[in-house]
Amino acid sequence: VNVRQALVYASQWVDKLDAELLLGHCLRVARPHVYAWPEQLLTPLQQQQFIDLFEQRQAGKPVAYLTGCKEFWSLSLQVDEHTLIPRPDTESIVELALRKLPRTVQTIVDLGTGSGAIALALAFECRLWSIFATDLHLATLQRAKANAQRLGLNQVQFVAGDWLTALNYLQADAIIANPPYIAADDVHLAALCYEPQAALVAADQGLADLFTLIEQAKMQLKQGGFLLLEHGFDQSASVQAKMRQAGYQSIETCYDLTGHARGSFARYMR
Ligand SMILES: C[S@@+](CC[C@H](N)C(=O)[O-])C[C@H]1O[C@@H](n2cnc3c(N)ncnc32)[C@H](O)[C@@H]1O
Repeated sequence: VNVRQALVYASQWVDKLDAELLLGHCLRVARPHVYAWPEQLLTPLQQQQFIDLFEQRQAGKPVAYLTGCKEFWSLSLQVDEHTLIPRPDTESIVELALRKLPRTVQTIVDLGTGSGAIALALAFECRLWSIFATDLHLATLQRAKANAQRLGLNQVQFVAGDWLTALNYLQADAIIANPPYIAADDVHLAALCYEPQAALVAADQGLADLFTLIEQAKMQLKQGGFLLLEHGFDQSASVQAKMRQAGYQSIETCYDLTGHARGSFARYMR
């Protein structure tokens, strides 16, 4: 079987892009190589591995967990069953942070870092920023730390713990988080069964962690510091009402590329 035949077969059942990524993974080459060398023959071992991955993909397992990596902000991040697969939507949070934050020395916090996506994208963009990345789960934090090391982004420090209690006395210029925000009875959860539920689900219709962060951040933001939270497209009103009630100012909505609300931004003045 050659590359073209394998792709033609697999693309009948799974997305063509997914088939290319899986085949590239089996051949240990980047995706463009798969188009460039359609006549290349697969070894029996490669063929077996491709069939195995293809079947798991057909059963619903995300490609990123099959290949072990996902691109985010042009960085190749390793992921596993302990880390959420970083989403393109979250890149709009990174973009807004980059637009708002001065490129001078700043202390920035990424709470619930998962694979390290937000912290590492920010570190990649500005070497002057001192960045703290946290997660409640040690296995998750280990993965994020390994990603930082592999990418040589050494200005990120990793701390385990529950939201801001992980960073007791730290005063930050900006606190950023993509916390769990899906309601436990949301029908979309069924499609996300391969990802860690602790990364996805929050109590109180998905608002519990967002509200905790809004309260906690007040204590650890410097005067005029930024809070930037990713949330569901239909949670802006609740999140922003909570921000106003907690005394934040300059509240703005962050939109993704499709025009959906993706997050809320605010500043805290004492
Ligand atoms: C939606 S995921 C976001 C991961 C990553 N920031 C991203 O954007 O891809 C939420 C993350 O928050 C972490 N988390 C959940 N509860 C937490 C808590 N109480 N304190 C710190 N992190 C928590 C989860 O382990 C998970 O990695």
